[in-house]
Amino acid sequence: MNSNRFAGKVVVITGAASGIGEGAARRFAAEGAHLVLGDKDAAGLKRLAAELGDAVETLEIDVSRMADCEALVDLAVSRFDGIDVLVNDAGVDHLGKLDEGDFSAFSKVIETDLYGVVQMSRAAITHLRAAKGCIVNISSASGLGGDWNHSFYCAAKGAVTNFTRALAMDEAKAGVRVNAVNPSLTYTALTEGMKEQPDLIAKFEERIPIGRGADPADIAGAIAFLASEDAHYITGVNLPVDGGLSASNGQPPLS
Ligand SMILES: NC(=O)c1ccc[n+]([C@@H]2O[C@H](COP(=O)([O-])OP(=O)(O)OC[C@H]3O[C@@H](n4cnc5c(N)ncnc54)[C@H](O)[C@@H]3O)[C@@H](O)[C@H]2O)c1
Repeated sequence: MNSNRFAGKVVVITGAASGIGEGAARRFAAEGAHLVLGDKDAAGLKRLAAELGDAVETLEIDVSRMADCEALVDLAVSRFDGIDVLVNDAGVDHLGKLDEGDFSAFSKVIETDLYGVVQMSRAAITHLRAAKGCIVNISSASGLGGDWNHSFYCAAKGAVTNFTRALAMDEAKAGVRVNAVNPSLTYTALTEGMKEQPDLIAKFEERIPIGRGADPADIAGAIAFLASEDAHYITGVNLPVDGGLSASNGQPPLS
């Protein structure tokens, strides 16, 4: 690993108190970045910041609120004079059929998983242009194809996937790259409930050619790559980081 790719760079991460966002924060910190971390979970942010040291600022935010997104950007600019990398990670999941449960679940998923990404990007874009920086969105395998029982989440992540492409086109000449990673099953708080469903985990392991779900560090390496100079000619890409899941055409194993 090149351990100093982000020395002196300012990296803003939403959803940083847990899971993939936390994994990304650890990876960027290990590679020398100044970090500005936002999350709804103030206690989780405090715990992580205490571990990561002095070059870390935190702010309790709700990415579904534009004013909170602007406040996170303002914090980065006032403390570190700009933003080089924005990682849009904060997200929530929702399972269920279209007409099941309370319909407010749809607003919650869209406002967090889609508005959160668009609002953070809008709040940060002038600073990213000034730095010739980049955005890495955390989309999902569910943003590349449909899942059963997951239509609200697939709608939000599918929109993030295409937003990534379109924003990359608009910002390329300004020197801002925009990419996404698209994980499949990753072991975090979001998928904690699956631990009680060993049959479901076994089905995932059967469908993932590498044979296991991901840990946050598996995803963080790909996020850091897309944010690094090594990826300077890559923009508008939605990168599956899924152990080979999306290599399948969906047919069952032939015999
Ligand atoms: N875990 C998976 O299998 C998986 C797979 C594909 C994509 N993803 C995506 O990865 C991202 C991170 O998920 P994770 O698995 O690490 O989950 P997680 O629950 O461990 O972490 C998500 C973090 O986002 C924060 N958050 C939620 N809503 C927020 C809001 N409105 N404002 C600010 N912070 C908020 C939570 O407090 C939490 O710290 C999400 O966008 C998720 O959709 C996860």
